[in-house]
Amino acid sequence: MPIPVILDCDPGTDDAVAIMLALASPELTVLAITVAGGNVGLNSTLPNTLALTALANSTVPVHAGADRPLIGQFVSEPRVHGADGLGGVVLPPGGSPTPGLAADVIRRILRDAAEPVTLIGIGPATNLALALTTEPTLTTKVKQIVLMSGAWAEGNVTPAAEFNAWSDPEGLAILLACGRPVVFATLELTAQALTTPARIATWRTRGNGRCLRAICDIQSTVPLSPRFSSLGAPLHDPCAVAWLIRPELFTARDCSVRMDLGPGPSRGRTLIDRWNRTGDPLNATVLETVDAVGLFELLGERLALLP
Ligand code: BDR
Ligand code: CA
Repeated sequence: MPIPVILDCDPGTDDAVAIMLALASPELTVLAITVAGGNVGLNSTLPNTLALTALANSTVPVHAGADRPLIGQFVSEPRVHGADGLGGVVLPPGGSPTPGLAADVIRRILRDAAEPVTLIGIGPATNLALALTTEPTLTTKVKQIVLMSGAWAEGNVTPAAEFNAWSDPEGLAILLACGRPVVFATLELTAQALTTPARIATWRTRGNGRCLRAICDIQSTVPLSPRFSSLGAPLHDPCAVAWLIRPELFTARDCSVRMDLGPGPSRGRTLIDRWNRTGDPLNATVLETVDAVGLFELLGERLALLP
């Protein structure tokens, strides 16, 4: 039976791949895609999502969500994703968002669900946190929360914090406290999934569909990361989606995870206790390794299924 999911995103060059993977995969039923400001403002992430779903001929409803975190100010990340969020690759415009704001729609879907729903978060946690904190009894309808978020060592937006966790740390803390299983694809995991020019070239050999071509074009704009000797760039968000589709590609460890919510330089850090030094309850599963060859094969195979 397919896994019912809600995908919350902020496209984003890697969100674009994650969206396509989710839409192309029969293992998942995407009930809705909800959008937040993140990599770039909501005024770009929303049309980007609509353009991507239209390109895939998808009828999954797309809903606008938060344009800022629960606390503090919105800050974008144009260095990786370009000013428009998709590296300057222009897609045909999509349609209009479906009426209903993200948090309201997430609550409605959970309320009406016959079976628990998996929440996938690949942007700031604001939409998911708003939904769960405004009607906490609905958490019983959440099967699990699968996130691309956090890091157990150093961050990417500050020395301490990963971008999604740092963008809305209070939102992420709400998810961690909600009592449902939380799964983390951290920076250490996504560092193993480097998009390289050779891997993009291999994807291109799989077909000539417009979605495959668009994703290859978008990924080609992502700067090669000096953190990885400029060999490639981490393909973060698809790791969270791929874990649901092919968990056997990953290894994982149960950990306790807490947020640094302080105002100082480590704000947004995910304190991931991989060796149970604190003895705190194990409230999260942290993905530790991924078979990158298998992951990129899966992505190529699924992208080639799309129009
Ligand atoms: C995360 O932040 C964004 O830049 C990416 O889309 C990903 O979700 C990586 O830190
Ligand atoms: Ca993202």
